[in-house]
Amino acid sequence: MTAHRIDGKAFAAKLRSTLTTQVADFKSAHDCVPGLAVVLVGEDPASQVYVGSKIKQTQEVGMRSIEHRLADDTDQATLETLIDALNADDSIDGILVQLPLPAGLDSSAILDRIDPAKDVDGFHPVNVGALWTGADALVPCTPLGCSLMVADTLGDDLSGLHAVVVGRSNIVGKPISALLQKMNATVTMAHSRTADIAALCRDADIVVAAVGRPGFVKADWIKPGATVIDVGINRLDTGKLVGDVDAGAFEVAGAMTPVPGGVGPMTIACLLTNTLRAAVLRRA
Ligand code: GUN
Repeated sequence: MTAHRIDGKAFAAKLRSTLTTQVADFKSAHDCVPGLAVVLVGEDPASQVYVGSKIKQTQEVGMRSIEHRLADDTDQATLETLIDALNADDSIDGILVQLPLPAGLDSSAILDRIDPAKDVDGFHPVNVGALWTGADALVPCTPLGCSLMVADTLGDDLSGLHAVVVGRSNIVGKPISALLQKMNATVTMAHSRTADIAALCRDADIVVAAVGRPGFVKADWIKPGATVIDVGINRLDTGKLVGDVDAGAFEVAGAMTPVPGGVGPMTIACLLTNTLRAAVLRRA
């Protein structure tokens, strides 16, 4: 059996198309458009590419993109002053500080300074806490995209299903675990210190891999018919992009996201979704 390929590119395009209509409706109702401020510090090449795509897609759905590119040697006080100004600016609905920040800057202090109502990354402790207590929250974009793809594949009630999340990062592993649990899955969080990850995965109806190691999850760890969400984007020395799951898993799984073209495109679509949501909630 070959797994159904979960097409993140097509799914994201559909989300952006819906958003374009919703942004137009928002504009009619409020006589303004949602604004997303993107802050990039330094010259990290991957971050430059991501930020470029975020800005382009924000504009494509009809929202306003406000760009702040700061030098590599920007100090903490300057960055905090910028965050304070964006928090105070009523025309800004979302604030995104691209990570990683250059060494020497305190990322946690910066993320904690963002107004939780404008925290479209969902990284502020208020939003993290709200997610875990089941309250309405701005949810981190990559996990939100993963949960939408799981819901599209299996429905939004995962009662009786076992999900194994491999990786425990704040950006992906922890929040996707909370989201899957909210959807009634029984969730196991596995990580580098877990004994026999292979056996855990073999019991999983859903595997989410977010470890940043090419091919870490092997094809023979996958239960036949399982749903596999591969969050990894790893560039090999050959230049090829591969995920955290061995591509052989496509022969075993029931449905699986490809890399590239799976989770990646959903992340920015969910950032735009969060920005509109923040704009609506701020005016409610
Ligand atoms: N760098 C890599 N992924 C992300 C993300 O989701 N948000 C931000 N702000 N930076 C990132």
